[in-house]
Amino acid sequence: MAKIELTVDGARVSDDVEPRMLLVQYLREKLGKTGTVIGCDTSNCGACTVHLDGRSVKSCNVLAVQASGREVTTIEGLADGESLHPVQEAFRECHGLQCGFCTPGMIMQAVDLLNENPSPTEADVREGMEGNLCRCTGYHNIVKSVLHAASTTGGAK
Ligand code: FES
Ligand code: FES
Repeated sequence: MAKIELTVDGARVSDDVEPRMLLVQYLREKLGKTGTVIGCDTSNCGACTVHLDGRSVKSCNVLAVQASGREVTTIEGLADGESLHPVQEAFRECHGLQCGFCTPGMIMQAVDLLNENPSPTEADVREGMEGNLCRCTGYHNIVKSVLHAASTTGGAK
């Protein structure tokens, strides 16, 4: 077992974990943060995307021990109390989801994209989101949602 200490959605946590435990498993199985989902387990789909020290990562591609000493934000830490994050609000307004399975990862990736580029073009959005797969929407409303979030905020936080 390996000792880890990290911050998850603003709360300090410490644990003993198997060295081979993936960050996504740790979040879901040890912390109960099931908002972060597993779509493929092979770093292809992006459904498990979270932020590690403010940048998006696929949490099925990171070991829990690699997150020790660092700050993790999941979809569950994005809203401000009852107020949705502007990117969450944009996905709701623009119907950027259907079944919702890919949505947590899409939103976490979109927040990172907008932090890096507050005024993206449609091509920028399509390129920035290309590591996140959706089986339902055809991507049109997802792209629209990200562009809408950019227009309402001038950049996400
Ligand atoms: S579950 Fe991590 S990329 Fe698909
Ligand atoms: S909304 Fe169903 S997979 Fe994207």
